[in-house]
Amino acid sequence: MKKYIFLSFIIILSACRQSSVEVKEPYETPKTAAGKQGVVVSAHPEATKIGLEILKKGGNATDASIAVQLALAVVYQRAGNIGGGGFMVHRSADGEVTTLDYREKAPMAGHRDMYLDSAGNVVDGLSVYGHLAAGVPGTVAGLFAAYEKHGGKLSFEELINPSIELAENGFYLTSKEAETLNEKLEDIKKYNTKPNAFMEKDSWKVGDKLVQKDLAETLKRIRDNGQAGFYEGETADLIVAEMQRGNGIITYEDLKNYEAVWRKPITFEYDDYTISSMPPPSSGGICLASILGMIEPYDLHEYGFHDVQSIHVIAEAERRAYADRAEFIGDSDFWNVPISGMTNEQYLQSRMADFSAEKATNSEAVKAGEPQKESEQTTHLSIVDAEGNAVSVTTTLNTNFGSKVVVGGAGFFLNNEMDDFSAKPGVPNFYGLVGNEANAIQPQKRMLSSMTPTIVEKNDELFMVVGTPGGSTIITSVLQVFLNVAEYGMTVEEAVNAKRFHHQWLPDQIFVEEGFDKNVIQELEKLGHKIAYRSGIGKVEAIVRKADGTLEGAADIRGDDTALGY
Ligand code: GLY
Repeated sequence: MKKYIFLSFIIILSACRQSSVEVKEPYETPKTAAGKQGVVVSAHPEATKIGLEILKKGGNATDASIAVQLALAVVYQRAGNIGGGGFMVHRSADGEVTTLDYREKAPMAGHRDMYLDSAGNVVDGLSVYGHLAAGVPGTVAGLFAAYEKHGGKLSFEELINPSIELAENGFYLTSKEAETLNEKLEDIKKYNTKPNAFMEKDSWKVGDKLVQKDLAETLKRIRDNGQAGFYEGETADLIVAEMQRGNGIITYEDLKNYEAVWRKPITFEYDDYTISSMPPPSSGGICLASILGMIEPYDLHEYGFHDVQSIHVIAEAERRAYADRAEFIGDSDFWNVPISGMTNEQYLQSRMADFSAEKATNSEAVKAGEPQKESEQTTHLSIVDAEGNAVSVTTTLNTNFGSKVVVGGAGFFLNNEMDDFSAKPGVPNFYGLVGNEANAIQPQKRMLSSMTPTIVEKNDELFMVVGTPGGSTIITSVLQVFLNVAEYGMTVEEAVNAKRFHHQWLPDQIFVEEGFDKNVIQELEKLGHKIAYRSGIGKVEAIVRKADGTLEGAADIRGDDTALGY
């Protein structure tokens, strides 16, 4: 009998082992792609596939980027969105660089102290969860602005139809997406009183089909009525009704007044490279220019990749750039951001005047919180087409599934971007970032972002298209991938997949990814740096154009990210 029980135990154990090994992912996720005609890299295989099909049908990079963003809103709902916002950097084949801002805005009823209690303290979670956390969405306005200026090789209908089909007929969850959805399901239930596709199961697993009928109808209204299909009519009715159910403050007027804005890129030189990235309301371009300006005099190439001095110099530059970010950067429509002063060569050299190769500097003692463990979610896509047009788009709901509020009957998540404002000077937001008056809440103002969609040129030719999610770590991840290629001679695949680190002034520590070289960490600690581990930093999507014109795309191994080319 005992022997029988033991044998049964062994059989059950081996069956369990087998089934845990046999998780069958529904999609292939190729991580690298090479092509002469076009490459698409995004966070999800279905979205990348749709982007490539658009290119092959004759759409240009902008058309493909619109189709990919719409597809991500269906298959990657934790960050892909129509209820959030984003930024696009576009470089046309003839070298002209333009940037589009479709960042969310504070509603007209928003105000400086809206997240404070009567004692003047920040109410925990109010800017992160629920209806009051949502800014006025910008994505749909951004898609149409991009389409009108740079797209239009195919009809908008052709760009949106594949996503309508995916929403209507469903697609299969990967294990990562099922896991992330399960993690947030309790929160989603807490903040939603109307039924939605995500709450149809108590637990999702890999291979489950997710059908989103409400979202399909919303996408059809956008297809049939353009921008008004989102900001007016039935979709606006549903958004406003959702706000009323949850004491939110977005109104019809907020929606109708939303406009995407073309802005002047932040363009600067580093060695032989010309780098263009996003201006305010993103801090990405300014901080990237500041950090690279501060480290340019140091010979990183000579130090070598992940050498302790390399990391020390970069971390010290990051510390100073993020300190400036907190003080000086906000929406430039509301606040005079000293862009040229902050990126001026002499100024940046002077910022490093107290740098010591032997010792970490102390960040000011400011009350700063630990960034929470929840992963910060945003998503990036990089596309180059056959003509040589390049698009770098980063788009976001802020944290995973944004505010967790699904617009009842409309099937999409609303962002929780209001948390990117400074709710109170010196009090850290979700990412541990502190801010000041420059980023205080005002009606209609855009909250400060770290998103850094970037395009790099070398000898006046397209060289790299790069970007990533990751909240406050976005800027430093883009920085490292660029340096990995430009200074350390890596292929784009190696550059994307290498371990990353991050310093943001406050809290005063270097975050490193698990698996980072222990010896290097010990050396950094000897210099006085405090180290904190994180499971992953960013999910980069990058394309490099080689001298012979071949495009090489790399999708991050940290997710289901997929690269395809032809
Ligand atoms: N929500 C993240 C960012 O915009 O930086």
